[in-house]
Amino acid sequence: MSQVPHHIAIVMDGNGRWATRRYLPRVAGHKQGVDALNRCVRACAARGVAVLTVFAFSSENWNRPVEEVSGLMELLAMALSREVPKLKAEGVQLHFVGERAGLSDKVSAGLAQAEAATKHNTRLVLNVCFNYGGRWDIAQAAARLAAQGQPLTEASLDSAMALAHVPDPDLLIRTGGEQRISNFLLWQAAYSELYFSDSLWPEFDEAELDAAIAAFNRRERRFGKTSAQLAGVANAQKVA
Ligand code: FPP
Repeated sequence: MSQVPHHIAIVMDGNGRWATRRYLPRVAGHKQGVDALNRCVRACAARGVAVLTVFAFSSENWNRPVEEVSGLMELLAMALSREVPKLKAEGVQLHFVGERAGLSDKVSAGLAQAEAATKHNTRLVLNVCFNYGGRWDIAQAAARLAAQGQPLTEASLDSAMALAHVPDPDLLIRTGGEQRISNFLLWQAAYSELYFSDSLWPEFDEAELDAAIAAFNRRERRFGKTSAQLAGVANAQKVA
């Protein structure tokens, strides 16, 4: 029987190449990327995915050319005003995950308003990682616990991490042909199934999502156990 991953995480890579191949400015690719994200949110909700987490702007993206960084900030402001009312009506609960320091007051306020406006929604949790890095997340969790005099354990770190409100991702997709994590969800992706697609993010569609989910269904998730142990559990469940 086909299983839908509870939580899908995506590195939306390839916007720049999509634009460059068309002799367009890179920001035009990010614009198409917002449309692809819209499609993906709707497709995930329709398939019963409970949580979608996307990497929209990394801690390292500040090093890009000034016009691309400001283009991405403008795109975020535009996406907030254009998309949030629709997402709210469609039952999507929005979270912005990442460091707020460094963002303008206007952008920060927009993120907080979008979260407040959608906090009672339950159909799909959408985590947009913005000014986010996996190392930042582990470091901020450890620093917060240390400041409170709390012991650093797996459980305490887990609960201080920026994605503590959702279970870990089951499936992590990266588009754009590269096969690396690039400082995304370093802690949370410990047991995620990884799926790499050669499609550029603006091209990612429902068929691609279904291919990733089908590949996920062909994997055996062992979480450190053996195949035989897993078969034993399955048989015991059949007998019970
Ligand atoms: C990676 O492609 C993509 C990004 C750095 C930005 C992702 C952003 C979006 C999809 C838009 C959604 C954003 C907001 C603001 C809600 P790349 O530029 O690294 O592509 P390349 O590898 O082809 O150069």
